[in-house]
Amino acid sequence: MEARVNRQILLVEKPAGRLGPEHFRLTEAAPPAPKDGEVLLRVRYISLDAANRAWMQGATYRAAVEAGTVMAGGALAEVVESRGEGFAPGDLVFADTGWQDYAALPARELIKLPKITPLTHLLSVYGIAGLTAYFGLLHVGRPKAGETVVVSAAAGSVGSLVGQIGKIKGCRVVGIAGGREKCDWLTAELGFDAAVDYKAGPVFKALKSAAPQGIDVYFDNVGGDILEACLAQMNVRGRIACCGAISQYDGAPSGTGPRGVPGLLVIRRLVMQGFVVMDYFKARDQALGDLQSWVAAGKLKVQEDVIEGLENTPRALIGLLAGENRGKRMVRVG
Ligand SMILES: NC(=O)c1ccc[n+]([C@@H]2O[C@H](COP(=O)([O-])OP(=O)(O)OC[C@H]3O[C@@H](n4cnc5c(N)ncnc54)[C@H](OP(=O)(O)O)[C@@H]3O)[C@@H](O)[C@H]2O)c1
Repeated sequence: MEARVNRQILLVEKPAGRLGPEHFRLTEAAPPAPKDGEVLLRVRYISLDAANRAWMQGATYRAAVEAGTVMAGGALAEVVESRGEGFAPGDLVFADTGWQDYAALPARELIKLPKITPLTHLLSVYGIAGLTAYFGLLHVGRPKAGETVVVSAAAGSVGSLVGQIGKIKGCRVVGIAGGREKCDWLTAELGFDAAVDYKAGPVFKALKSAAPQGIDVYFDNVGGDILEACLAQMNVRGRIACCGAISQYDGAPSGTGPRGVPGLLVIRRLVMQGFVVMDYFKARDQALGDLQSWVAAGKLKVQEDVIEGLENTPRALIGLLAGENRGKRMVRVG
């Protein structure tokens, strides 16, 4: 084995308010030696996810990230050495490696991936983001052709795919995003029917004119005030797919809203359902097949935002939470 250094980014302190660079530290260690049943991985691309911030707050669908440990995160990685069944050097996997150059993980925790071009699509449209958009919209939101679908964080990795899948299914699609530029991109490039800039003023009125027939499916990435504005405009028997609550992740005062729960749910016979993408992994092949055919047919545009260098991962997450990204943000580990 050539001499190697394992650069690691530690979460040195859990943020009480907004996440900043001071909460992280770059350090170096020797690469781990894989034990029996484990595989040594070299990290190629780290996935940046809004949920990374939520993991610092406490247990979610995974254990909380603790201060003094390597920051957790999913990544596309290459097998360097295998002491686990079913993996050989050169294989590509998705794994919870954390923010570092190398990780040794049990073989049973790895998802083997095909070698496709570009590799980055394995983290965007064919990764968690694409599957979340697919299952959240089609299995939880269950839109029918002609219905109105609204999605928040619409220019982000999940949201930009949700809106386009809604269009593929024959829906009228409205995106909610921060800033005129993002909104113009959604309508001009991604085919959304309308977009609401939530930073330009209260969402309720703008949404009313963007979705004059009311909302049948709301794909909620943000929670808080935007959820409240959408809830009030839901049509009878509408569905709200609760995907995440990014407005609550990064130092926001603890939410009191949305108002209208449960009153509006009762009167309008609404279904409001949370989901975690892993719940649907049994249907992964079908989802990937559909996503691949839509990408090949040019119906689904994939937007990626690749930041260079492991050392820039903290900045990349802080920027994602502030809305810097368009589409799927990831870090290429040099
Ligand atoms: N349930 C699941 O299985 C699952 C899986 C993956 C992701 N998720 C969730 O999906 C959502 C999207 O995550 P992602 O990783 O794909 O991130 P992303 O959408 O690529 O990026 C986050 C975007 O959220 C927007 N944002 C930030 N603060 C906001 C606020 N206070 N109000 C409204 N918008 C805000 C920003 O865009 P603007 O410029 O528009 O503000 C930012 O670009 C998150 O809630 C995440 O937790 C859930």
